[in-house]
Amino acid sequence: MQDMPLDISITRSDHLRSDAEVSEILANPGFGTHFTDHMFTVEWTPESGWYDARVTPYGPLTLDPATAVLHYAQETFEGMKAYRHEDGSIWTFRPEENAARMTRSSRRLAFPVLEPDAFVQAVDALVEVDQRWVPEPGEAGEKSLYVRPFMIATETFLGVRPAQHVTFMVIASPAGAYFTKGPVPITLWLSTDYTRAGRGGMGAAKTGGNYASSLVAQQEATAHGCDQVVFLDGQELRYVEELGGMNMYFVHADGRIVTPQLGTILEGITRGSIIELAGKMGYQVQEQKISIDRWRDGIASGEITEVFACGTAAVVTPVGSLKWDGGQTPEVTEAGEVTMAIRRALVDIQYGRADDTFGWMHRIC
Ligand SMILES: Cc1ncc(COP(=O)(O)O)c(C=O)c1O
Repeated sequence: MQDMPLDISITRSDHLRSDAEVSEILANPGFGTHFTDHMFTVEWTPESGWYDARVTPYGPLTLDPATAVLHYAQETFEGMKAYRHEDGSIWTFRPEENAARMTRSSRRLAFPVLEPDAFVQAVDALVEVDQRWVPEPGEAGEKSLYVRPFMIATETFLGVRPAQHVTFMVIASPAGAYFTKGPVPITLWLSTDYTRAGRGGMGAAKTGGNYASSLVAQQEATAHGCDQVVFLDGQELRYVEELGGMNMYFVHADGRIVTPQLGTILEGITRGSIIELAGKMGYQVQEQKISIDRWRDGIASGEITEVFACGTAAVVTPVGSLKWDGGQTPEVTEAGEVTMAIRRALVDIQYGRADDTFGWMHRIC
């Protein structure tokens, strides 16, 4: 066996949820409300580096009210899933990509870097201990264990500076199929009062502040009867960036599939995987700036035939119509053919129903 970067101690819970209780939760897990029996923790100081890696019973944290993260939001996180295949084995999807993104987010937030191998080892350790919490795919074929690694500034100090005590943790929560009756197109609200990121800002980092700043725009979307908000660039309010928690793709009549270029958006692992997968499926995939006018005109002229959003939670989600102050694109009630083909291809790899020709899956146990 390869040398493991972390020496992880494991203390099993002596108040495990019963098998009957776990089965009941896994039958209808919802999202983000139930948590497994254990959690992973490792801490860092400049003197010790990363130390005391441990899996322990899941439970609340005790934090001093002056803990830095509570005041200055020095925090990064990741979102990924563990999938149970038909033979009972458990896998994650491109976990080294989550690890690499956390490294980038950590650098932006002036955190120490947790080595990518240690990140993957931590996720594997927790999922292995809590493996009975990874659901069978279920009828819709898409249940999973959602895994949430996160890093927080745990130094007790009110000065504004990078924390000298940092804690990295992993928790996990069983997740139901996002769409139980097949993907339904979502309606998007175009935010023109709020932006998510600016040049030199934190848009490319997965950090809590980006989500806090999206909430009021999401509230506005909900008030206008829309499911999600779509953000434009912070400089010209002209180019499409992404949704509050998903990247975007535009399918063109000429076979091109276009996604907004990187810079101020989150570099989604689903987005990156679709670039490779759709390319292999014969589509010409382009990363470029897409203006809001091109979106609206492209729909009107038929040049853009399908729009979809993508991310770990919902994989690939068809976009129905786009609404803005004073107008909207025509309603779309059915998921598009290309959207569904890409969705199926990706989900089938994740659940081991198709050959993993890219070598994306990582077996845990
Ligand atoms: C702002 C934002 N964009 C895009 C994504 C999609 O990223 P991924 O495909 O890695 O889940 C997410 C989801 O985590 C997100 O929060």
